[in-house]
Amino acid sequence: MYIIGGTASKAVAEELAKELHCPLAETIAKRFPDDECYIRIVDDISQEQVIIVQTAYPDHNIVELFLLQNAAKEAGASKITVVMPYMGYARQDKKFQKGEPISAQTLARLISAQADAVITVDPHKEYILDFFTVSAVGCSAVPELAKYLKKQSVDFILAPDKGALERAKNAADIIGCEYDYMEKKRIDGTTVEIKPKKLDAKGKIVAIIDDIISTGGTMAKSIEHLNNQGANSVFVACTHGLFAGDAIKKLHTAGCTEIIATNTIISDFSKVSIAPCIARLL
Ligand code: R5P
Repeated sequence: MYIIGGTASKAVAEELAKELHCPLAETIAKRFPDDECYIRIVDDISQEQVIIVQTAYPDHNIVELFLLQNAAKEAGASKITVVMPYMGYARQDKKFQKGEPISAQTLARLISAQADAVITVDPHKEYILDFFTVSAVGCSAVPELAKYLKKQSVDFILAPDKGALERAKNAADIIGCEYDYMEKKRIDGTTVEIKPKKLDAKGKIVAIIDDIISTGGTMAKSIEHLNNQGANSVFVACTHGLFAGDAIKKLHTAGCTEIIATNTIISDFSKVSIAPCIARLL
């Protein structure tokens, strides 16, 4: 068995190779002068099971993933498992308006076309896994995030909306603390309305936990409410740190103590590795 790391997820691939005691295949990845992607798997993987690790975000990494899958297929790999730490396009999981695509389904079908199995981390909605036409499973980064937050003495976990309550409960159970949620209404892609809600946050070290931080709007509004309610400090933690536009500035301006993300998308805030939760599924 070989682990193949795409350029978006090299570090995760290296960690997985160590955890699973299997070799990391040598690959060449470069860009043509017109910015098209070139990849080559140097090792002989004929009749070998391979695990391709590549985050499907942004678009150029999705193309690289397709090319890695095809290179593995063409080289005669006996089984191709795609480990996709973050699946882009997952939030467009239905037609919100007439004439729109179901982007998550499109991506799932394209990935399935050259794979035998898929593993992803904290898919935006669990039912997205049904869009794949091969076996697809998700794992949660919450246990790893919770371990980190416990070390920071966090004593209150908050979900920024009701949909994220289960995640908050799981983290709180690991830490051994209280949890609650905010009432959120999304106005559009960049604006959210968080209804003020009386929380027992006074004097607490709070962590708000979510699957994605994109524009930072959801988290910023929640941080403000918590600070207004007398929280001692407010950590924000997410699995997938997209940090679009001025998200980081928004979080700091809102008064956040620390930003924590995993390494599904590499950033300065990738403080928690998802490799252990993926390794448990392999
Ligand atoms: C929404 O359902 C997600 O769980 C996140 O709350 C959302 O994607 C965060 O987006 P933003 O950072 O742009 O508010």
